[in-house]
Amino acid sequence: MKRIAFHNRERETGEIMKILDAEPSLITFIYGPINSGKTTMISHLIKELPEDYAPFYVNLRGRFITDYEDFLNVLFEIDEVGGVDNVTEYAKSILKDLGAVSGIPIPINLFKQIFEKKDKSKDMFKYMEQFFMEISKKRTPVLIIDELQVVGDIKIDGFLMYKLFNFFIRLTKELHLCHVFAATSDSLFIEQVYSEAMLEGRCRYLLVDDFDYKTTAAFLEDYGFTDEEKAVAWNCCGGKPICLVELVHAKDDRRGKAEEMLKIRKGQIEEIVYSLEARDKEMFDAVIGVLSEFIVMEKVRYKYISDEIQFLVGKNIIFADSANKELRPQSKLNLLAIREVMESV
Ligand SMILES: Nc1ncnc2c1ncn2[C@@H]1O[C@H](COP(=O)(O)OP(=O)(O)O)[C@@H](O)[C@H]1O
Ligand SMILES: [Mg+2]
Repeated sequence: MKRIAFHNRERETGEIMKILDAEPSLITFIYGPINSGKTTMISHLIKELPEDYAPFYVNLRGRFITDYEDFLNVLFEIDEVGGVDNVTEYAKSILKDLGAVSGIPIPINLFKQIFEKKDKSKDMFKYMEQFFMEISKKRTPVLIIDELQVVGDIKIDGFLMYKLFNFFIRLTKELHLCHVFAATSDSLFIEQVYSEAMLEGRCRYLLVDDFDYKTTAAFLEDYGFTDEEKAVAWNCCGGKPICLVELVHAKDDRRGKAEEMLKIRKGQIEEIVYSLEARDKEMFDAVIGVLSEFIVMEKVRYKYISDEIQFLVGKNIIFADSANKELRPQSKLNLLAIREVMESV
């Protein structure tokens, strides 16, 4: 199978490099529709970062977190070294060969100490602060949490998210110690973040969207698409990278593949919408009301997230861009599928 090379992201990477170039002062939320390439861009960036940065990447995707123990286990990368009980000494020692780490390294016995404490969150944040403090003497720490919404509504004596936000604010705005990036595809979560008074003036938003036309065309060019195949790809998938990758692999029949993807998505949306009709006619009508706007438009403005919008966003049919107060289908494929479904409503 053909390997797909990382493609362009110059504007977004440029923006992140500008952020990294300055003293940490705000939390950066990286958001965008699903499968737009956020994780891919972050992973690529981490590999390319100059030596003077020390990235720590934590991906919460698919992690089942119900309490602090689970959270500690994903946040930290346990180092089995024995006899280390001093954070500063430890941070100093690992700086020598800090490879690609997933999670924040912690020596096993310090980890156990945090685990035994009643107020785990206090000790966890204290460890991280000391750790980053030491790292920052030599390199600039960059903390990246992917799929942050996973901890969105975990409540362990108060919302974990609030404690995290407080800690992130401390790392950035107060101590200027560490860059903090939080990525998510969940637009309902971003909507909550957006209206969170605590974060007012303390964060910024970076949209990582599907490729634009030029970027898409250049990507397809690299894999030998004919002009006709390019047109099929753009008309069906827009610039959704994951979708384009599928077409790259469907070398023999790209048009057929595109039609198949559309057929599948249409079927899924039909299933979602009509099973709703059977359960809740009023909600169904409201959902159809939202979807019908996309018969002629590609995006629409919204004032607030109503129940029907929440439903469509939750089903990954619609993407709500909170920063721009716009609703649009999660992808071109979704737009086309919505239009086909609406033809027979
Ligand atoms: N810049 C890129 N170059 C090449 N392929 C990409 C790029 N961005 C995304 N992809 C493809 O799209 C898929 C989905 O991207 P991903 O980063 O997982 O999306 P997100 O994190 O936004 O949901 C990836 O597995 C990869 O195959
Ligand atoms: Mg991702």
